[in-house]
Amino acid sequence: MKIDILSIFPEMFKGVLESSILRKASEKGAVEYRVTDFREFASNKHKTVDDYPYGGGAGMVLKAQPIFDAVESLTAANQAIKPRVILMCPQGERFTQKKAEELAQEEHLVFICGHYEGYDERIREYVVTDEISIGDYVLTGGELASMVIVDSVVRLLPDVLGKVESHEQDSFSTGLLEHPHYTRPAEFRGMKVPDVLLSGNHANIEKWRSKEMLRRTWNRRPDLLENFSLTKEQQQWLEELKKEDKRY
Ligand code: ADE
Repeated sequence: MKIDILSIFPEMFKGVLESSILRKASEKGAVEYRVTDFREFASNKHKTVDDYPYGGGAGMVLKAQPIFDAVESLTAANQAIKPRVILMCPQGERFTQKKAEELAQEEHLVFICGHYEGYDERIREYVVTDEISIGDYVLTGGELASMVIVDSVVRLLPDVLGKVESHEQDSFSTGLLEHPHYTRPAEFRGMKVPDVLLSGNHANIEKWRSKEMLRRTWNRRPDLLENFSLTKEQQQWLEELKKEDKRY
């Protein structure tokens, strides 16, 4: 996968792309990152990339020309591959694990990160394929949001995570939140690990985990259960959980 990031603050990406799993992924050749300062594409002598809004009002608007030219320069070398061009903005569709899985299938992603009151609407209409928000809050720019997306997509690429870190059991991948985890010692300051986990009985352990996943999801994110098809056994557990719960 090729990942292009367009930003006027390219230095923000160094620490993130050059650490941990994101770094390992590029060392293994699973992904190639390129961060481009789109100010280089500004056509005026002061290299400005924003301008006042037509019709007046507060704030500046990111100009169309530097973004059109920058995106065209990134795709010029290989016209055959049509990249997903992702505009980071709070008005976009809310980012989810499902969207990360969809983007992980692509060969080329381009992220546009702006720092302005708005983007010239022609960028949205003619260049962008997706508009994504990472949540209902406003950041100072799209950089941090794009890093969140890059991180969640790259870890899904084949061979990026080893077996130990595998993503198949992630919360949201299975549709339920993860069960609690424990590691040694079996007793810490009087707090004990549940007996079943020490029992060596794998069938019982699986059952406990499955039940705890349901409990956690019910307690923290009951909305996730609306789109989840429960087994007969899980339905029964859910009824028990509801009986314990004062809300019902
Ligand atoms: N830019 C500013 N706020 C944002 C958000 N919540 N998500 C994505 N891009 C943004």
